[in-house]
Amino acid sequence: MDSSSLNHREQSHIDALRCQLFAFFSAEFQRLLANMSRTSFTTNSSSSGNITEPEADPCAEQTRRTVLLGAIATTACLGCSAYARAGEDPPGSDERPQKGDVLVFAEGDNEGKLITAADLSAGGPPVHAWPKDPKTSVVRSASRLNEILIIRLDPAELDEKTRERAVDGIIAYSAICSHAGCPVTAWVKSDVGDKEVFKCMCHNSEYDPRAGAQVVFGPAPRRLASLPLALSDGSLSVAGNFIGKVGGAQPG
Ligand code: FES
Repeated sequence: MDSSSLNHREQSHIDALRCQLFAFFSAEFQRLLANMSRTSFTTNSSSSGNITEPEADPCAEQTRRTVLLGAIATTACLGCSAYARAGEDPPGSDERPQKGDVLVFAEGDNEGKLITAADLSAGGPPVHAWPKDPKTSVVRSASRLNEILIIRLDPAELDEKTRERAVDGIIAYSAICSHAGCPVTAWVKSDVGDKEVFKCMCHNSEYDPRAGAQVVFGPAPRRLASLPLALSDGSLSVAGNFIGKVGGAQPG
């Protein structure tokens, strides 16, 4: 492992943490503002002896604040992605996944190690991965748009199109939310069903990996891009380009 590839992974971790921290504080701030709005509404309505309309519609006001905070969170995430490391990145490290690339863990104790089918627990959670050029050993981690979620599910749970694309129930998707480009970090029970889904904590968009990562909740405008995989002797590799657009549709 050379020092430059270590720096890429460290920087990617820092970027993801910054986005997640900002999303957390944004969510907490929104909750605080919502409480303030409710308090203000109650005060306005009860301070006078007459029943009067509040000065502003608290729902509209909250929406305005949510949009504003979303924009701030997104700007922070985009700032993460726009880091300049010219001169540090080995050639090919910011290219999109190529056919034949292998996949390595993006985080955890096994960071940088090859991912095999045996590493994936049936039913999730997903593993975060980077593509790696097997010829040059370059990990394509210089662009956060290359981060991938790999998950193994029961093939019987997959819809027809997703099953065709899966290998032994293993499927891969872009880890970048289609709403405003935050990293999709959570694997949680859906707000609208009893199954676990991918979730982006920036604005709570949810994606169902059993159905081609279609959006099942939240503001995301489209599904996550999927990445075709191949499986040979237990080893996973990339079988083609991303299907669908990678990255966020809007700045906030
Ligand atoms: S960036 Fe908004 S829900 Fe993911």
